[in-house]
Amino acid sequence: MSTKIAIINGPNLNFLGIREPSVYGAETLDEINDEISAAAAARNVTVQFFQSNHEGAIIDHLQQCYYDSVQGIILNPGALTHYSYALRDAISSVNIPCIEVHLSNVHSRDEFRHKSVTAAVCKGQICGFGYFGYILALDALINNFGGTK
Ligand code: DQA
Repeated sequence: MSTKIAIINGPNLNFLGIREPSVYGAETLDEINDEISAAAAARNVTVQFFQSNHEGAIIDHLQQCYYDSVQGIILNPGALTHYSYALRDAISSVNIPCIEVHLSNVHSRDEFRHKSVTAAVCKGQICGFGYFGYILALDALINNFGGTK
């Protein structure tokens, strides 16, 4: 059975393509997810996608990942990154390797974006490479499982 990886996007990421394209790029979330699906197929892993603007719905989904025996999570928590202790607790609770991704380089932006309360409970953080960050995260997770590309 192939490795199951969940791609989770938080608030306002459904607005990609419309939202500040100079910061986040011109691709829509569906287009990005198509790129991830193609990369996943080439690597022989299964991906599932979830996006919500609601903190609780993301936490519910993380818990569902536990029940569904998902083996890896790629998470862009949007602004929740910077303040959601509830999301941080959910990431540690499910105990599934998680990689935090940001399209933009959060460290070159507003001061409040420099802090992530979730990164410490993730395997690592990738930021500043646009949608390619999700592909990098996919490879980082596969490498973490000891698999090959
Ligand atoms: C973001 C960065 C966050 O600071 C912001 O609130 C987002 C998107 C990114 O992908 O660059 O919603 O997570």
